[in-house]
Amino acid sequence: MGQYRKEIEEAAKILSKATRASAFCGAGNSEESGIATFRDPGGLWDQVDPIEVGTAEGLISALDRNAEKLLPVFIGILNAFEQADHNPGHKALADLEAMGILMSVITQNVDNLHQEAGSSKVIEVHGNLFRMKCLSCGCTKNVERKSFVREIREKLNAMAEFSLTHMVSLAPLCDTCSSMMRPDVVMFGEAVQHLPRAFGIAQSTDVMLVLGTSGNVYPAAYFPIEAKKAGARIIVINPTENAFSPVTDVYIPMKTGEALPAIVGKIKEMAH
Ligand code: APR
Ligand code: ZN
Repeated sequence: MGQYRKEIEEAAKILSKATRASAFCGAGNSEESGIATFRDPGGLWDQVDPIEVGTAEGLISALDRNAEKLLPVFIGILNAFEQADHNPGHKALADLEAMGILMSVITQNVDNLHQEAGSSKVIEVHGNLFRMKCLSCGCTKNVERKSFVREIREKLNAMAEFSLTHMVSLAPLCDTCSSMMRPDVVMFGEAVQHLPRAFGIAQSTDVMLVLGTSGNVYPAAYFPIEAKKAGARIIVINPTENAFSPVTDVYIPMKTGEALPAIVGKIKEMAH
């Protein structure tokens, strides 16, 4: 903990007195699980252009034009999601929930790692890659992350070539109406999920942990601003400066996988 001991202690003190603490999470939370962020050097938006592939239509037309170009990126994502496990930062959030301190986790991440670490009050405003949704009847079904990715990879390996048609053939079919399903994630231009609920939390929380997010994407990036307006203390954990500096009360320039367990340890130490 050394270098930022004071900030860790300050965060622990604030959280130990909180009655309605929340966390707002971004891709940085999963970076230590081996899943690249979007905007860090080498991140996903360095590999592909979000304007081109960030929308459903854009992704389909990019696959139609040149699927082979996107294949290595797709395989890289599959590898990351197959090897990833939740990290000590995810676990610390689950601990804070178990300690009765954290009321909810609002996450922009779609990787299911908060739930796999034990958090049960997770609001996924950008959806979940491992919840499939039927394009016709809207039915959803959860798939087990690692086995689902393995199955996709096996089908990919068996393909002599890769095109839009091949990509579409990987989509699971609905058990109810046999139509095609797609991952229930929010692409650019689509409605963010659970927005009223997430705003309600932002407006009633007394402490918001803002974790591993650059604050580039709205409306999600409003949550810490709303929380601050409503009088919450804002604790930001992120190794680099980010959009939330103006509303930050305690800034911890560390990785979440290091800072969060240190904060939990400090809260437990103070309780004795
Ligand atoms: N611990 C904490 N923060 C980290 C870590 C880490 N180990 N590694 C990276 N970060 C920080 C980076 O400094 C950066 O500020 O995480 C942030 C990641 O920012 P982005 O890549 O912009 O990801 P995010 O803020 O989640 O993006 C929001 O943009 O493209 C959309 O839908 C996508 O949900 C995503 C949204
Ligand atoms: Zn269906």
